[in-house]
Amino acid sequence: MCGIVGYIGKKDCVSFLIEGLKRVEYRGYDSAGIVVLDESSSSIHIKKSVGKIIDLEKKIDNRDIGNLGLAHTRWATHGEPSMENSHPHISNNKKIYLVHNGIIENYISLQKRLEAKGYKFYSETDTEILVNLIESYYTDDIELAVKKALFDVKGTYGIGVLHVDEPDKLIVARLGSPLLIGIGENENYFASDPASVISKTDDVVYLDDKEIGVIYKDRVVHKNLEDEIITKNIEKIDIDVQEIEKDGYEHFMLKEIFQQPRTLIDTMRGRIILDEGTTNLGGLRQHPQVYNALIKAEKIYIIACGTSWHSALIGEYMIEEYAKIPVEVEYASEFRYRDPIISEKTVVIAISQSGETADTLAALKEAKRKGAYTIGLCNVVGSTISKVTDAGVYLHAGPEIGVASTKAFTSQVMALALITVDIARHKDMSFREGYKIVKEMKLLPTLINSILDNSMVVKDIALKFKDAKNFLYLGRGFNFPVALEGALKLKEISYIHAEGYPAAEMKHGPIALIDKDMPVIFIAIKDAIYDKVITNMKEVKARNGVIITIASYGDEEIESISDYVIKIPDTTNLLMPILTVIPLQLLAYYIAVEKGFNVDMPRNLAKSVTVE
Ligand code: F6R
Repeated sequence: MCGIVGYIGKKDCVSFLIEGLKRVEYRGYDSAGIVVLDESSSSIHIKKSVGKIIDLEKKIDNRDIGNLGLAHTRWATHGEPSMENSHPHISNNKKIYLVHNGIIENYISLQKRLEAKGYKFYSETDTEILVNLIESYYTDDIELAVKKALFDVKGTYGIGVLHVDEPDKLIVARLGSPLLIGIGENENYFASDPASVISKTDDVVYLDDKEIGVIYKDRVVHKNLEDEIITKNIEKIDIDVQEIEKDGYEHFMLKEIFQQPRTLIDTMRGRIILDEGTTNLGGLRQHPQVYNALIKAEKIYIIACGTSWHSALIGEYMIEEYAKIPVEVEYASEFRYRDPIISEKTVVIAISQSGETADTLAALKEAKRKGAYTIGLCNVVGSTISKVTDAGVYLHAGPEIGVASTKAFTSQVMALALITVDIARHKDMSFREGYKIVKEMKLLPTLINSILDNSMVVKDIALKFKDAKNFLYLGRGFNFPVALEGALKLKEISYIHAEGYPAAEMKHGPIALIDKDMPVIFIAIKDAIYDKVITNMKEVKARNGVIITIASYGDEEIESISDYVIKIPDTTNLLMPILTVIPLQLLAYYIAVEKGFNVDMPRNLAKSVTVE
């Protein structure tokens, strides 16, 4: 979603700001803007553009220089993508410039208040209200004016503020939208994403909610909204620059699909105790109260959105079958408004790749308010969800740049399997069973490599079906959520309508859609319900449906009922989704590429959905 970058120092910062924006381009945006102030000449330069950062760059010329500045990519919420609506926004007196992520919920009442004082508004954004609210409080101290304005605000913000009469400082603040300050030598930076500052520094301070940073060239003063000075720790950014490069792959998504053998090793690293047939998750065991609550839980809710919600469904199957605890999976957006029944015996697990998803964060806060222990499964280290939960498990999958989630999904499923084994081994799971599962976990990277080695089989199928208008994805048991995930991947990046269903559910409605033009993807691996899936496949064949099957190596029977078969190796049932999803990720990728779409930045989507 929106991205923020800022700089203050002695050098011209235009190229740093643009480079910083490009580093978060993958998050999704539809307009961009930059403002720089040249302290020596007191000249200010602002440029905006609708569309891509490259279009913004084309508008910048060699007169646009400055030693402090702000830049922003905007993902439209209040008002369409336009020059007027894009950031930075300017106060009526043209002295204050503001970039903002988040949403000011009470902007209409603030707008009325400001209009009564004679303020004029030229955009449809909530951000323009905020910049003028700051102006309305300004006498001679921008820090004070920002603080006063933020007291009036309801909603979320990560902001960067520049006042032309106070060029020695930039002000930043956060409530619910990520913001960090990068520490340099005689220059400092800030951003909403560490990737934007990594080329300059790996020393950063993460702002917490209701904190303000006053950033000078040579120092940073941290305060809370009550104006008390606070001490913050400098942390190291945990990203390898190579991780945010394409590394020779055509797209980030392809790189991330092919990275999965390694990312799964990273998710498992140090967490498997083979000779005890169990797992050990430090982020849980270091919090004995939460850990014990999890083992003794009478009910677990898993809350998530999108792809993370699909891994949550797999978690439900795993935990109920092996750890024998009732699990309910909820869309985070529904959970928060639904008054769920929570007792002290309830544990809430939030799954979020980014750790910033607004719906998941709000649901989590609601669960905490009701007294549940909360556990986060996040990929982004230091993200908001990872901080507000009582305990957590990091995925360690590395930065996921492609908007369509791939490697985070398989790492989420792995993390859930690790948790399941840990709980189950405290209950009825025998050493033998635990040992079998953790041993299979270790084999997965090799098995995924064998699927990736056959990616051309999937590509050929993609070429044949790229013009299909609809797809149906069907699976059962652990592979039903994989069917949902396969359909979501296809929708997201190739804009083809696709639906996922439990295979048996097809006859209760979707079967009406089956004809020769409807490709149906079955996940039919040799497990306990294989025969039932074969029956469902025959129902499709009887109606002239075209069948593409993800099947087990050595399954000859499947060939006669399928039009196309993608063979994959077997593993134990709870880990199977990690294998069955790989061909579906590849299929969506190759179809989108064939159709000429931008797979890494699909239309309308954002990587981190920080609005409700
Ligand atoms: C799909 C996708 C989204 C996210 C969803 C939740 O490919 O990426 O559906 O899964 O927006 O995001 P996180 O996991 O960051 O909370």
